Amino acid sequence: SKKAVLGPLVGAVDQGTSSTRFLVFNSKTAELLSHHQVEIKQEFPREGWVEQDPKEILHSVYECIEKTCEKLGQLNIDISNIKAIGVSNQRETTVVWDKITGEPLYNAVVWLDLRTQSTVESLSKRIPGNNNFVKSKTGLPLSTYFSAVKLRWLLDNVRKVQKAVEEKRALFGTIDSWLIWSLTGGVNGGVHCTDVTNASRTMLFNIHSLEWDKQLCEFFGIPMEILPNVRSSSEIYGLMKAGALEGVPISGCLGDQSAALVGQMCFQIGQAKNTYGTGCFLLCNTGHKCVFSDHGLLTTVAYKLGRDKPVYYALEGSVAIAGAVIRWLRDNLGIIKTSEEIEKLAKEVGTSYGCYFVPAFSGLYAPYWEPSARGIICGLTQFTNKCHIAFAALEAVCFQTREILDAMNRDCGIPLSHLQVDGGMTSNKILMQLQADILYIPVESEIRYSTWKKAVMKSMGWVTTQSPESGIP
Ligand code: G3P
Repeated sequence: SKKAVLGPLVGAVDQGTSSTRFLVFNSKTAELLSHHQVEIKQEFPREGWVEQDPKEILHSVYECIEKTCEKLGQLNIDISNIKAIGVSNQRETTVVWDKITGEPLYNAVVWLDLRTQSTVESLSKRIPGNNNFVKSKTGLPLSTYFSAVKLRWLLDNVRKVQKAVEEKRALFGTIDSWLIWSLTGGVNGGVHCTDVTNASRTMLFNIHSLEWDKQLCEFFGIPMEILPNVRSSSEIYGLMKAGALEGVPISGCLGDQSAALVGQMCFQIGQAKNTYGTGCFLLCNTGHKCVFSDHGLLTTVAYKLGRDKPVYYALEGSVAIAGAVIRWLRDNLGIIKTSEEIEKLAKEVGTSYGCYFVPAFSGLYAPYWEPSARGIICGLTQFTNKCHIAFAALEAVCFQTREILDAMNRDCGIPLSHLQVDGGMTSNKILMQLQADILYIPVESEIRYSTWKKAVMKSMGWVTTQSPESGIP
């Protein structure tokens, strides 16, 4: 049968903490044509530790690409129409691998991991100059969340990593770097790079000069030769070296929260989005200016869409645990079998009945930055049942967002009049209604925005004039 004739298509790898997806869009209409998703395992070898297998992550990307291409074939869509691929990824998660064998030298240390708490405590005692040394250069507080301390831990504790560094075989990267290096050939000429958004989450990157910072690398004791080259978020990094999409350029790279900001078309100063994934991340575009928070928010690179294009910054409120609390109720307590069941349970009662859930499994991020905090469920009576706990878990996500929205409003001076949202949890209607009730402002999901987005894309000429090689993911 005849293959459907379409314009150029673009593929997007979305490698999150909980799952990997590959999605293919029609670049003329922004229509999603096909996608595939697989869940990613998380390992908790000790209290506070969170690891993932870098090879499983890589295989999941290949699997999603292959399955999506198969589905496109069933739809009679020719995959040779896919002209470019973009990568968006969970940020901060740290991988070190051997460039000669291509083997990871340890599991990926996930952003949620708390093993570096004591490293952070001792480093904070010997910060040079004033306490602003790290924050003024990176926009970040000294915290277990970011890659530099995870990499320090690997250098201090894993013999294989130490040896590979001595023998000049080691490469460091966040998940984007690990994927791009592997997908562009790995040991056979893989490209070792990252983009400015991912680099800005390592605590080694100077967000003003947009370069690795020598003083920071010295402070954290990181050998600069293992760091990837920093590129813009939109340029051709290399070509796919294997699989169904061999030869297709990888031409976009953004940390997933930056990708959501771009996807929600928050290109104007003051536009913001909140993404409900494993964690919850509210980003507000501050334009070309680095705005520093007085209320516990991060300053981060939002995007730089081309080598010669200007950089944009964002203020970010990061919540460590959002969707992860639902996964915990499923995997650790077993009170639900699938994540979707949470809505049914919460709906049965429509109230937490005085039960409160603080899911501080990885300490508390914004605005507290308190690594020693731990989760609690309180207000329990003999009347409390799993439905109330489910409701309290959803409320916890909303209360945490309220706290970062309050901080954002204080920092920006002009309160947000509505909240654009996306991410897996936004399909939960109870959660979204609760969120609107707790914020006192309208919460607008990406579905409602899609018509508007298409109109804006058209007015910007994206859907008709940009070639896919421009790398807009
Ligand atoms: O900073 C961590 C963040 O990038 C993780 O995103 O989508 O896995 O919750 P997600």
